Amino acid sequence: LILAIETSCDDTCAAVLDGPHILSNLISSQDQAHAAFGGIVPEVASRHHLELAVPVIDAALSGAGASLDQIDSVAVTAGPGLIGALLVGLSTAKAIAAPRRLPLIPVDHLQGHVAANFLAPEPLEPPFLCLVASGGHTLLAGVRDHSGHEVLGQTLDDAAGEAFDKVARLLGLGFPGGPALQRLAEEGDPAAFDLPVAMARDPGLDFSFSGLKTAMVYLCRDLGEDGVGERRADLAASFQAAAVGQLTAKLKRALKRGDWDAVALGGGVAANGPLREAVSTLCEEQGVRLKLVPLELCTDNAAMIGSAARFTPSLPYPEYLAYDAFPSNRPPVAAP
Ligand code: KG4
Ligand code: ZN
Repeated sequence: LILAIETSCDDTCAAVLDGPHILSNLISSQDQAHAAFGGIVPEVASRHHLELAVPVIDAALSGAGASLDQIDSVAVTAGPGLIGALLVGLSTAKAIAAPRRLPLIPVDHLQGHVAANFLAPEPLEPPFLCLVASGGHTLLAGVRDHSGHEVLGQTLDDAAGEAFDKVARLLGLGFPGGPALQRLAEEGDPAAFDLPVAMARDPGLDFSFSGLKTAMVYLCRDLGEDGVGERRADLAASFQAAAVGQLTAKLKRALKRGDWDAVALGGGVAANGPLREAVSTLCEEQGVRLKLVPLELCTDNAAMIGSAARFTPSLPYPEYLAYDAFPSNRPPVAAP
């Protein structure tokens, strides 16, 4: 059994896995704590993780009907993410593993999103192309085996989810903005405003969302407060169409370049209905299989970390006591 812990951002998550089978997968969202600030405050997130980590792990163990004595290894997100938040998870994992001399498995958060696809039932076997779009990251991952991925393209500035959240805030929606923006967009016309589909002419596979965000800022400024109030749904729908358009255009380009016969989606933005529909249509057109994991496995969760851990080398006691979290994209470095 693997006990997995994920605290890279604002959700405190713990899961117990038996191979690819999820025995429990608990998420304690801190949305309320951050809503007043209109975004995630790193220090607030760390403090909440400190309070929530042990109760959430306890709940995951009892949900799995397991005790700590039955756990064979402890997996934890080591990065990338908010450094304070990561350190709470990593220290908790060390504190659970060390007295029992259990091995520790430090997991890359992005590989976690990829590995959500390896979970039962109906795991997706590599090779496949995975679009990961979340609040912190946007990338196209070429997955050729279970143990890692190749970054084929990534955002040069903002993440897709960050753009959803910022535009949602501009339209007076709460935090996190993605789901609220999608709901509002349902009442709007996606063709109402002609927004740039960034990077459309760029031949590469990288993304950019800051131009779209700025275009929205100027559009709202030109419309004025009353104008924005009247056209909120159209603004949301037009923004969503441009963001989804870019994500799908790059996915299409990557499919044409490679020999992929399966596609998967990961990250919080993969919960977006119009994105899921656009990607389904694209995959049908291109004759490739599409794997859509359940929504609760798209957004941050610990089951995906446990899944990645199955294919990640573990560190023995006491080696991992010196292992550090990493805040930005870099491969985990072995402890000295
Ligand atoms: O993967 P995730 O839970 O956390 C990070 O690693 O960032 O992703 C959270 C992001 C947020 O930006 C949120 O607004 C976005 O995913 N999101 C959505 C939707 N649901 C969540 N964006 C668009 N449409 C949605 N339905
Ligand atoms: Zn994530």
